[in-house]
Amino acid sequence: MLQDIERVLYSEQQIKDKISELAKRISNDYEGKELLVVGVLKGSVIFAAELIKNITIPCEIDFMAVSSYGNSSETTGVVRILKDLDHEACGKDILIVEDIVDSGVTLDYLLNYLRARKANSVEIVSLLTKPSRRKVDIDVKYVGFESPDEFLVGYGLDYAEKYRNVPFVGVLKREVYEK
Ligand code: IMP
Ligand code: MG
Repeated sequence: MLQDIERVLYSEQQIKDKISELAKRISNDYEGKELLVVGVLKGSVIFAAELIKNITIPCEIDFMAVSSYGNSSETTGVVRILKDLDHEACGKDILIVEDIVDSGVTLDYLLNYLRARKANSVEIVSLLTKPSRRKVDIDVKYVGFESPDEFLVGYGLDYAEKYRNVPFVGVLKREVYEK
């Protein structure tokens, strides 16, 4: 598994430190609100778990599953909801947790979807963002790292469902996804 990774981009410790900073800001900003943290399956689970552990105010947790990628490394632009919220969105202050914002298509869709369900507020926290790849201009309130335009795996991010369990974020060797 590790031999498919070209280099480490963000180490486990760097990621932990960043998540603890993000959680502090979020705990401050959402004090006294009805915080509902919504992880986007499956890429966000590791990030979401670490983030939630570090949030110091009361919050509820839910998950959504969407698909826009299939098994390829390029977005198809079509978003489907595979699993909806178990919670009522109405009146909640929703914080969507994503692994990475790439084209922005997935989150643009989710933002509109949750706003239409009359959430009190909807914001995004993403571990990673690739600003140079944006097709839709969306506002990501909390960002861990701005990454270069390379295909990343680890800390929840996959290529064809593999590498999610790599404990850091690394750049996948081109020969792995170009073969
Ligand atoms: P977007 O709709 O193009 O912003 O796609 C976001 C989703 O694409 C993320 O939640 C990831 O699942 C996937 N994705 C985008 N870039 C990468 C990458 O570099 N590695 C792994 N998954 C990625
Ligand atoms: Mg994915």
